[in-house]
Amino acid sequence: MTLQLRVYVPEHPLIKHWLSVARDVNTPPVLFKSAMSELGRWLTYEAVRNWLPTVDTMVQTPLTECAATFVNPQTPIGIVPILRAGLALLDEAQKVIPTAAIYHLGLVRDESSLEPACYLNKLPDRFAPQTRIVILEPMLATGGSIMMAMKEIISRGVSPELIRIISIVAAPPALRQLSKNYPGLEIYTAIIDEGLNSKGYIVPGLGDAGDRSFGT
Ligand code: URA
Repeated sequence: MTLQLRVYVPEHPLIKHWLSVARDVNTPPVLFKSAMSELGRWLTYEAVRNWLPTVDTMVQTPLTECAATFVNPQTPIGIVPILRAGLALLDEAQKVIPTAAIYHLGLVRDESSLEPACYLNKLPDRFAPQTRIVILEPMLATGGSIMMAMKEIISRGVSPELIRIISIVAAPPALRQLSKNYPGLEIYTAIIDEGLNSKGYIVPGLGDAGDRSFGT
């Protein structure tokens, strides 16, 4: 059996709505940031379906005892927001998975070579066995940043099958690189766009997600 990259674009009116708000050039930064937060919430919710381990037990209701299922608090889970734009998704993603630890990864891309460089790395030397990781990378464009993030995380002991990526807009060059290197990986995105312009921006895209989130 050959593994294939799985890219999920959940069919949801709220995801379509907030993506459209984010795409609109006239959306002011404060609303753009809320749109990204909303997308972060719904896409994280979809991404953890069938993925968060649960434990079955019993609870006493006010009336009687009944079966209950909780998210297993023993499962190590990490959220890796790729700075800056990934921060726009973080608050809501963290609300969806409150037991997750947050490991910031700051990557900046050189505007002429489009190559990423790491300026902040809060990943541990080694992740605990079976750690599940959600990467927040809103714009999957050339693939440079996400490939660097995957390498850093996997080199610290995380299996690619336990990683899920949340993006807002994904473009074919990044998806091709991920597919070639990590078949079996799952990505949750609001949309797959046509491609990139000569400056590496996704078209039609939504512009610079970091600048628009933080008004810079
Ligand atoms: N990063 C962004 O913020 N936007 C793009 O279109 C591509 C990379």
